[in-house]
Amino acid sequence: MESVQAIKQRFEIIGNDPALNRAIEKAMQVAPTDISVLVTGESGVGKESIPKIIHSLSHRKHGKYIAVNCGAIPEGTIDSELFGHEKGAFTGATQTRNGYFEVADGGTIFLDEVGELPLTTQVRLLRVLENGEFIKVGSSKVQKTNVRIVAATNVNMFDAIKKEKFREDLYYRLSTVEIHLPPLRDRKEDIHLLFRKFASDFALKYKMPSVRLDDEATAMLLKYRWAGNIRQLRNVAEQISVLEKSRIIDAENLKGYLPDMGRNLPAVIGDKKKENDFSNEREILYKVLFDMKSDLNDLKKLTLELMQSGNNEEVQNDNENLIRKIYGNDEEQEAYEEELEEQMEVLQIPEKHEQEISAPKEDKYSFAEEIQEEETLSLQDKELELIKKSLERHAGKRKAAAEELGISERTLYRKIKQYDL
Ligand SMILES: Nc1ncnc2c1ncn2[C@@H]1O[C@H](COP(=O)(O)OP(=O)(O)OP(=O)(O)O)[C@@H](O)[C@H]1O
Ligand SMILES: [Mg+2]
Repeated sequence: MESVQAIKQRFEIIGNDPALNRAIEKAMQVAPTDISVLVTGESGVGKESIPKIIHSLSHRKHGKYIAVNCGAIPEGTIDSELFGHEKGAFTGATQTRNGYFEVADGGTIFLDEVGELPLTTQVRLLRVLENGEFIKVGSSKVQKTNVRIVAATNVNMFDAIKKEKFREDLYYRLSTVEIHLPPLRDRKEDIHLLFRKFASDFALKYKMPSVRLDDEATAMLLKYRWAGNIRQLRNVAEQISVLEKSRIIDAENLKGYLPDMGRNLPAVIGDKKKENDFSNEREILYKVLFDMKSDLNDLKKLTLELMQSGNNEEVQNDNENLIRKIYGNDEEQEAYEEELEEQMEVLQIPEKHEQEISAPKEDKYSFAEEIQEEETLSLQDKELELIKKSLERHAGKRKAAAEELGISERTLYRKIKQYDL
């Protein structure tokens, strides 16, 4: 069997921290089995190399290795991506498609950010884990596959289970063996080593002498929190290598690259949050659209009744509440507009100080991912999210949630069924 050192070299893993070595050792031990492994640890700690080690040391090494970022695939398509679909299963399904579980038969699938899987997909995944069975979307034929699963998460799965976002039975199935990677701040011995390695890599890449930290700067590097872990450290090393003229970096220079060092960043959203926790602009806009859609449906209903009955007065009497809801009165309308304005005010971002502008984003990569993910949310996803949040806020009480959402209880009931909530 290869040594831990040899594996580190093969997978370009830097560091000698005992917890890191133990994690690698554990990966090497479970590799030859088919046991499911859950890799845990904060963002940027290096979770992605563990499933690669496991796959390459297993009897599946000549089979396929497929890495799936569960958090980046829209909820509506994830079942089809993972399990495939039949021709005609949904609009746009012009061909039968094989999913990753079919393609990776005999190999390994790495499910990154597994905590993001929708509950319906979790049910399908549980079935594959239990007996290797799955069904394509739109099909009734049970298929078999032989896939080893390694999953990873940077969120607390117990929290997710408590909030009923993740199935407990699936968690135990996935985490037969758990491999935990320590945060960088707990790997004091490795921090400077990693910085020197990255500085030398970037010196080579940008064809300039390597940057070096003086003693005070080194001490600061070790004291820093590294919320973005190794990803953030590499990012900082790259910026310093490119932007600093002097090749010797002192603490004052370094401080400019470490957001939050010695001070607290002001929160973008103040503590003015309103009871409706619509904490970003897009959410508010979606709420407006959602309200408009609901009004439109009410108007359609009213128009139809008017056309059918022809008796204006009767329809007005029968639909008194509905009419008040759509047309409201001036006071209600003003209150609604004021509420919206207040919510928009919460979003006013305070002007940045010079230092904040020059300070690098804590973790630019994962930030970019977040934005991309948000963009994929459709109006329907957003509507679902609003309904979920509202139900949560009102402890599942439909009447209160329907009132807050400005829809009838019946409509809410229909939506709950439609979204399978
Ligand atoms: N020990 C290490 N030595 C060298 N580079 C490392 C090490 N650990 C991580 N890295 C590098 O840091 C970056 C982040 O690692 P990785 O993508 O595996 O993080 P992650 O734990 O999957 O984070 P997230 O939860 O955000 O996906 C990668 O570019 C990786 O190559
Ligand atoms: Mg990752």
